[in-house]
Amino acid sequence: MYREYQNISLLPYHTFGMDVEAARMIEYDRVADLKEIIRRENLSQMRYLHIGGGSNLLFTAPYDGLILHSLIREIRTEREDEKEVVLRVGAGMVWDDLVAYCVEKGYYGAENLSLIPGEVGASAVQNIGAYGAEAKDIILEVQAIDTTTGHVRIFPKEECEYAYRKSIFKTAPYHNRYIITHVVYRLGKQPVFQLDYGNVRQQLAAYPEINIENVRKAVIEIRKKKLPDPAIEGNAGSFFMNPVVKKEVYERIAEQYPAAPYYNVDEEHVKIPAGWMIEQCGWKGRSLGRAAVHDKQALVLVNKGETTSAEVIALAEAVREAVRERFGIDIRPEVIYV
Ligand code: EPU
Repeated sequence: MYREYQNISLLPYHTFGMDVEAARMIEYDRVADLKEIIRRENLSQMRYLHIGGGSNLLFTAPYDGLILHSLIREIRTEREDEKEVVLRVGAGMVWDDLVAYCVEKGYYGAENLSLIPGEVGASAVQNIGAYGAEAKDIILEVQAIDTTTGHVRIFPKEECEYAYRKSIFKTAPYHNRYIITHVVYRLGKQPVFQLDYGNVRQQLAAYPEINIENVRKAVIEIRKKKLPDPAIEGNAGSFFMNPVVKKEVYERIAEQYPAAPYYNVDEEHVKIPAGWMIEQCGWKGRSLGRAAVHDKQALVLVNKGETTSAEVIALAEAVREAVRERFGIDIRPEVIYV
């Protein structure tokens, strides 16, 4: 089944809290319906945007094209043995509902990604990550529809070219050509935990034992302390990506700031937390108009109430300029401007 809406407010469909309208929107809950929409609309020839939970978008103007949204929400067990389980999950499933399901069943691998906003399809586009885990660690394959032919295509994980917040689905020629309908995950059934990122282990010390439920709870507690609730203050999580730079660039910065945090990426590169740089520039907690840098996590920009996208962009540019001036690094938005 699918449902079509005209001149619809996108307020409930994204997390930044801007009251923008879309000319048209279609929500569907079966692959057959998506195929029908592709054919009827001649989708590959028109302006459209497929959204997930809208937790990574900044609408800068009314959207005059077609918005698509998947309501395919099933979880199917494809195979299972005593070591692992393979789940095929609909792209429209709320990501954290999937994590909650895995934790309840004792399927290991998704728990560090608890409470990340958004939906399953977007998790595979964006390669969402937190606390030392990334979606790619548990993705086995991605099922998509080619909008030029209407045919199903399976992308094994290796073809998705996953890297930090990156996949082939984010850029041309794959972006907007393929619509993800399902993601297939492989999860472990033996307890293996990744606790060495940030203060996960420290947060867990308050619990009597380390198990999957408690890891989920600890991650949720850490996130709730640092990240603003979009129901109260509109935001899109991390507004910027953490820049990946050559080790020499980091060493130059560390001469001046010996405590500068970093994460190893490979032999030659490290990732420097942009939130730390923004804080060093004095922007943490500061506002410009009705947009502000979150006071507990400087990587997040928040809507202080009826903020316009122009105000958010002005703030983002001011922050970016400050970081460029002080550290010589250009931080790039993770949020997509529409
Ligand atoms: N830091 C500061 N000041 C700040 C923020 C961070 O000094 O205002 C420092 C922290 O002290 C720490 C380091 O920067 O040493 C890293 O901070 P944190 O662990 O909070 O993570 P992050 O690098 O700022 C990334 C992800 C988050 C994810 C966390 C936890 C990106 C763009 N963001 O943030 O993802 O939750 O790690 O793994 O990679 C998101 O993508 O929307 C998101 C929230």
